[in-house]
Amino acid sequence: MYDIVIFGGTGDLSLRKLLPSLYHLVKKSKVPEEYRILCISRAPLDRVDFLLRVKEKLECFLGDDFNYTDWKRFKTILSYIDIEFLENEGWDKLNNFIYSEDHRGKQNIIYYLSVAPALFTPICRQLKKNNLTPKNSRMIVEKPFGENFKSAYKINSVLSDCFSEKQIYRIDHYLAKEAVQNILHLRFSNHLIETVWNNQHIDQVEIMVSEQIGVEGRAEFFDHIGTLRDMMQNHLMQLLTYITMEVPKSLSADHIRDRKIEVIKALEPINRDNISSHSIRAQYLAGEVNGKPVPSYKEDLKSVCDNIKGTGETFVALKINIDNSRWRGVPFILKTGKRMEKRLAEIRVKFNPPSNNLYGTDFGNLLVIEIQPKHTVSIQMMMKQLFGVDEALATHTNQMEIGNNEAFLYRIAGDYEKLLSEVINGNQAFFVRDDEIMASWKWIDAIRNAWTTTDQEMKTYISGSNGPNFDK
Ligand code: BG6
Repeated sequence: MYDIVIFGGTGDLSLRKLLPSLYHLVKKSKVPEEYRILCISRAPLDRVDFLLRVKEKLECFLGDDFNYTDWKRFKTILSYIDIEFLENEGWDKLNNFIYSEDHRGKQNIIYYLSVAPALFTPICRQLKKNNLTPKNSRMIVEKPFGENFKSAYKINSVLSDCFSEKQIYRIDHYLAKEAVQNILHLRFSNHLIETVWNNQHIDQVEIMVSEQIGVEGRAEFFDHIGTLRDMMQNHLMQLLTYITMEVPKSLSADHIRDRKIEVIKALEPINRDNISSHSIRAQYLAGEVNGKPVPSYKEDLKSVCDNIKGTGETFVALKINIDNSRWRGVPFILKTGKRMEKRLAEIRVKFNPPSNNLYGTDFGNLLVIEIQPKHTVSIQMMMKQLFGVDEALATHTNQMEIGNNEAFLYRIAGDYEKLLSEVINGNQAFFVRDDEIMASWKWIDAIRNAWTTTDQEMKTYISGSNGPNFDK
């Protein structure tokens, strides 16, 4: 039996991602009655209105996957209560639900903090105070997990005061992406790849996550946080650790996470000494995305409120060195930005040219891991040009896709559906451990600190472009 309790249950994330994911999970389950889902928000809402709201959103976000038979079953396991999270009163409603006659708290309890980060601490404290953190409970924490080392430390201390690390699941939804999870398979089950995965053979690695959307409805939050903290500290760092970690002893959550943290600790600092050669920050100007004119970042902010400072970056590039024997000397270029030409997340691993390159030009092979929109792996090889097509004996580039084409035959579970099912299975491998979060904040804080103390230039880029590059 599982009780899934969502704090912020009628909020955007819950209605857009969590409840549709749970709908799929429950539908797949042979015994849907083993689940109870409780949404908690601050506003009083009667059951009819609550169900109406959920149904409307499920129809919208599930599209063709929604049907009335499944909805009829699903709604029977849905409940709603209101609690004013900052007040002492009202928690007995949750107590009554969890310890109700027919369950008595014996079921696994899965809490999901889908609320503003300022509420993480008060909610955890109330759960502990009200005896709602038994050993059979798990806590899922949504990002942002703090906004620097200090605030993340505070959140971690309260969390660890209420739950053991084995009970805590810190989400980074990039870890649920098919192509990201596939990196481990690709690296650790192919001798061909394993033998060349080091600085003897690899020349450079580029990790790129570009988005077409702008700051949308989150202007105020975004301007305060910026892309370094919104995307780089979490999603891109996760990709970097997956690409570079040593082989874990086993696939157990802690063995994988031990390896990831080793990488973060081996990152050379980007600080006052190298900030201008190793980082770029920028904001988008007006331009065109997908053939449609779009305003600049500053105009986007103004349309929300006149007082937003406009100091947040919408693009970041970092040149990273890893100080260990496998990677010393290989530059890792990490780039991410909003309002760029394409929606694309990919990792490009460029190999050295052959040691005796008879064909002249720099023919480095390339391994490309596309994370989205497709999830494929492809290899670029040089081949002889067919005689008569161009010049006899000339080589040409051949890009071969070797990735999961069969995947398109199935419905691929969404990121949150996969993560929720891992929590239900008690597998922490795709969640971020406390020491990893702390180490990555420490490294990121140094960059922010160097930007401020050296007054680093905020560059600009035209919306719809690929953003600024490092000088060659
Ligand atoms: C979120 C960021 O974590 O990830 C957003 O807060 C960003 O700013 C989003 O748009 C990107 O996720 P995805 O899965 O669309 O690449």
